[in-house]
Amino acid sequence: MSTPSNPVQDRPSEPQIQEAARSAVAQYEGQAGNLLPILHAIQDALGYIPDTAVPTLVEALQLSRAEIHGVIQFYAHFRDQPAAAIVLEVCRAESCQAMGAEHLAQHARQQLGCDFHGSSANGKVTLEPVYCLGLCAQSPAVMIDGKPHARMTPAKLDQLLHAKGYDA
Ligand code: FES
Repeated sequence: MSTPSNPVQDRPSEPQIQEAARSAVAQYEGQAGNLLPILHAIQDALGYIPDTAVPTLVEALQLSRAEIHGVIQFYAHFRDQPAAAIVLEVCRAESCQAMGAEHLAQHARQQLGCDFHGSSANGKVTLEPVYCLGLCAQSPAVMIDGKPHARMTPAKLDQLLHAKGYDA
């Protein structure tokens, strides 16, 4: 009997969430503009920013829940749900757009069967937008699991996903 095919990463326990939030707050305590680095630290530790981490930040930073949620929603990098085992980021900034990024994005959506901020039907790949990977001279660009790839085409993207173990 096969195991369920839902490799979306396990969610951390509540003590792990609170530990990550407190640790991030302690790391940047007293620094001006520390909300962004704190959110980055929590996402680096847990893979996403759980809703239950927000009250800890409200108390520590004297900000409202709405302010913190607003920042999480504003920045495409932050996610409030766990990502799949493979994270594909497609650059949607100007230079890549001029070199066919929309076509590439449409191909990725079709292949994965999901939109940006979603995961493929089999739960293996999360699709995210990113806004410039510093590879503008070699557009269009994508990043898979933190590794950038330039001069991307739909066929090359399929090969990269296949090499990562994804098959539609
Ligand atoms: S615009 Fe896509 S890498 Fe810069």
